[in-house]
Amino acid sequence: MSRKVAVVTGSNKGIGYSIVKGLCKRFDGVVYLTSRDVNRGKTAVENLKKEGLQATYHQLDVADKNSVIKFSEYLRQTHGGIDILINNAAVANSVELYNTYEESKYIIDINYYSHLTIQEYLFPLIRNNGRVLNISSDCGHLSNVRNKYWIDRLSKKDLTRNDINEFVSWYLESSKNGTFKREDIADEGTVAAYRVSKVAVSALTILQQKELASRNISVNSMHPGLVRTDMTVGAGFYSADQAAETPLYLVLDAPQDLKGAYVWYDRKILDWYDYNADYYFKSKTLKMKY
Ligand SMILES: NC(=O)c1ccc[n+]([C@@H]2O[C@H](COP(=O)([O-])OP(=O)(O)OC[C@H]3O[C@@H](n4cnc5c(N)ncnc54)[C@H](OP(=O)(O)O)[C@@H]3O)[C@@H](O)[C@H]2O)c1
Repeated sequence: MSRKVAVVTGSNKGIGYSIVKGLCKRFDGVVYLTSRDVNRGKTAVENLKKEGLQATYHQLDVADKNSVIKFSEYLRQTHGGIDILINNAAVANSVELYNTYEESKYIIDINYYSHLTIQEYLFPLIRNNGRVLNISSDCGHLSNVRNKYWIDRLSKKDLTRNDINEFVSWYLESSKNGTFKREDIADEGTVAAYRVSKVAVSALTILQQKELASRNISVNSMHPGLVRTDMTVGAGFYSADQAAETPLYLVLDAPQDLKGAYVWYDRKILDWYDYNADYYFKSKTLKMKY
């Protein structure tokens, strides 16, 4: 029988690297550490080796369709399938809380549109009873959206891919033509592109779950907490290793029937639709002393 396979996107550093580390310790199969930059990825694999851990490297730029196709063909030929897929790769704002259109486009291409490419080319490889985890954020809870029209549309029980894509396009268009209203997004519209991308990822997770239900594949999204990584320029309550614990639980230990959920860093399953909840990201937490 072929060996089991786990893949973590954007795992040359930060939380993704810690997830790979945990998988190398606990997962009985081949663990793929992937990165957009080959040197950074290979260095990360070497660093794991120094700790006595063996990850396998492959290049994967999630925003580059050809790179995704190349990896999917390689996996198909080498292993025939994937058992665990963790979509972790993402980018955030620099230190600025408001984005130009170009920044917004860059963030959304990597954080949201890449999921559509991955769904197209990697999901067909996921074996029955497999697991997919989309690393979202507190920025991905529906309470980050303040525009009533979009709250209602994203809450529809018969939500479609088109609804999510139009939500994302609505934001991008408003950013491009200067009509973006800060009151449409929580916390005075700070890090709006990142919030929009992560709300879209968590909404997409619900749809992906429905699409894969017949093969008993579980698809969930989660918020890893505010974590001291390059993304937060070192601000945060948790180390990357601590933040990897719930993702590892979700792909290795959680019941298979946990499906389509939005999970908090402490394993609590939240009501993603509760748009009045206080789960949205507050930018002032970045300025706290840790
Ligand atoms: N840190 C937090 O407090 C926090 C909070 C909520 C959610 N999250 C989420 O947790 C996940 C991990 O974040 P992190 O804090 O570990 O951030 P990080 O340290 O900045 O790591 C992000 C990783 O994604 C990779 N990446 C970016 N664009 C990519 C692309 N196009 N293709 C492939 N890989 C790409 C980066 O590679 P390079 O080295 O090449 O840039 C890096 O390996 C993200 O989904 C993030 O949104 C983090």
